Amino acid sequence: MNLTDRVAVITGGAGGIGSALARRFVAEGAAAVVLADRDAAAVTAVADGIGPVVRGVAVDVTDEGQVRELVADTERRYGRIDLFCANAGVATGAGVEADDLDWDRSWRVNVLSHVYAARAVLPAMLARGEGYLLNTCSAAGVLTAVGDAPYTATKHAAVGLAEWLAITYRDRGVRVSALCPQGVDTPMLADGLTAGHLGARVIAASGAVLTPDQVADAVIAGLAEERFLILPHPEVAGYALRRAEDPDGWQAGLRKLVRRLRAGAGQSTPPPPPPAASP
Ligand SMILES: NC(=O)c1ccc[n+]([C@@H]2O[C@H](COP(=O)([O-])OP(=O)(O)OC[C@H]3O[C@@H](n4cnc5c(N)ncnc54)[C@H](O)[C@@H]3O)[C@@H](O)[C@H]2O)c1
Repeated sequence: MNLTDRVAVITGGAGGIGSALARRFVAEGAAAVVLADRDAAAVTAVADGIGPVVRGVAVDVTDEGQVRELVADTERRYGRIDLFCANAGVATGAGVEADDLDWDRSWRVNVLSHVYAARAVLPAMLARGEGYLLNTCSAAGVLTAVGDAPYTATKHAAVGLAEWLAITYRDRGVRVSALCPQGVDTPMLADGLTAGHLGARVIAASGAVLTPDQVADAVIAGLAEERFLILPHPEVAGYALRRAEDPDGWQAGLRKLVRRLRAGAGQSTPPPPPPAASP
């Protein structure tokens, strides 16, 4: 798919990756881009800043009624949705001790919202025999997110759901991609680094931290090829292969990295490069 004359919806649209996707879709000639975020003021400001092709709307993606209305309103205004980007996401920086509210919020935002989006857009896409779902998952969904148990579990579930959707609907014209970046310079990562979360420090030590615009470049290329797995950090494919071939060795490499980071905390010299990456 290319974006020329396309109608796209992007959730988490006030955030780093969502707003970069919107800017890039407009530059590629999209007919309309609807940005949805629970932060009404921020999403309106982002949309207004990009231009008249973009519309910002307040939507909580964990509320199925609001997702249905987002889809129905977009279809009423523009006639169809060519591409739905389920991009809103949350991290916790916590382990299994995260309270049930954080586990529940992670499940609802990172997974259930993708279910709600699919339920809402599939009927019209299947009727037209055409459509595209881009689900922002994470490298955490094919590897692990050290220091964030709810994020790891729910991003794995998000990749599993995207794969299920791809297998189930591809032959009926609906294409699906799972966007799986490692570190990206957005408020999500910056907040984790500021809070000193181990997971954010592992990400920063595990490879390049990309700009949201670089992620948008990878998305445009991935959509053009209609590739299932979109990996803005191509090395993630190698890590996933290593994890599959030698899970114990891969885990040992990550544990070593964590030990080095912990030992290096408070020292001025950075830790040596990691033997294996983690998102
Ligand atoms: N930044 C990274 O390093 C990184 C790496 C891999 C994957 N991701 C994923 O990329 C996606 C975008 O994250 P980002 O890095 O741009 O972070 P971000 O924090 O800048 O953006 C996330 C956006 O999601 C919105 N959001 C959260 N809960 C919502 C809800 N219930 N309803 C509607 N909107 C909601 C937030 O308001 C925010 O604007 C997320 O799914 C994230 O998990 C990020």
